[in-house]
Amino acid sequence: MAVRDFKEEHERLKALVEEALLGFLPKEDPKARRLFQSMRYSLEAGGKRIRPVLLLGACLAAGGREEDGLAFACALECIHTYSLIHDDLPSMDDDDLRRGKPTNHKVFGEATAILAGDGLLNGAYEGMLGDIQKSRAEQLLRKVKAAGIIARAAGAEGMVGGQMADIQAEKSLALSEEQGEKQDPLALADYIHRHKTGALIQASLVAGGVLGGGEEDFLKALSDFGEKIGLAFQIADDILDICGETQILGKPVKSDQEKDKLTYPAILGLQEAKNILEKLHDQGRQALCGYESRCGFLLWEAQALAKRTF
Ligand code: IPE
Ligand code: IPE
Ligand code: MG
Ligand code: MG
Ligand code: MG
Repeated sequence: MAVRDFKEEHERLKALVEEALLGFLPKEDPKARRLFQSMRYSLEAGGKRIRPVLLLGACLAAGGREEDGLAFACALECIHTYSLIHDDLPSMDDDDLRRGKPTNHKVFGEATAILAGDGLLNGAYEGMLGDIQKSRAEQLLRKVKAAGIIARAAGAEGMVGGQMADIQAEKSLALSEEQGEKQDPLALADYIHRHKTGALIQASLVAGGVLGGGEEDFLKALSDFGEKIGLAFQIADDILDICGETQILGKPVKSDQEKDKLTYPAILGLQEAKNILEKLHDQGRQALCGYESRCGFLLWEAQALAKRTF
């Protein structure tokens, strides 16, 4: 496929996800109208839909069909959207703008925003389990395995654990400098980034590969690729918090500095953070060495993510 075709493929998969998301959540209970409004407000506000597109791309690269991955792609986006709603809360990053709109708690209040996150998280598992129940026998095991991969990456061993460490590490750089401590801030930032963001991106690729019936060696390659581009994704996010534009990002810039977050540019400076991002992108490419013919789209996605401005 030529580069233009990869872009078209990206748009095609993203559109598939957008459409499937509309029918993915449980049926609205009129008594809980406000909750559903709040869930849909954030879910349908846009967003790059990177994780579901990567899942579908990996599923296709492994030889599967996109319909085998669609419910899992939607589930990932619901989990990711819940994590953003909670991430923006006053008790977390305290941000006012997300996906170009006021954050969920600014519109619906904190209690509803917390519950909307809970609703999206549970809706994700309901959707995956519903899909598993409808599956043909030969697909069952793959789907159960994929759901397990996503659950692990989203939970305390993955994203939630990373978010905890992120909050605990606020102001840690300034404090350790003040106290002359010799702790290794880079090792801690590495842990935070791999868990809060890397884990779910890596899981998107591996779960996609599993759903598509990929062989063990290919799944290992997808996992290594996901590890590198997942970490790179968060470093790019940190860089954009400094160099990006609110209007393009749809979220506030300089939020990390305000909260004294432990980020790669805060520890190493902007240029070194950019060098590491570039190196991780190269390592990600190498991880798919030998699989280039079926991974052209995933390699194109990785390149687009490393160079992104939004
Ligand atoms: C933002 O994720 C939070 C991070 C993990 C860096 P995205 O950059 O994927 O946000 P959306 O989904 O496009 O809004
Ligand atoms: C959040 O990282 C990662 C999540 C799990 C939501 P950030 O706090 O840097 O994400 P943004 O910059 O608010 O999107
Ligand atoms: Mg955060
Ligand atoms: Mg944040
Ligand atoms: Mg950020």
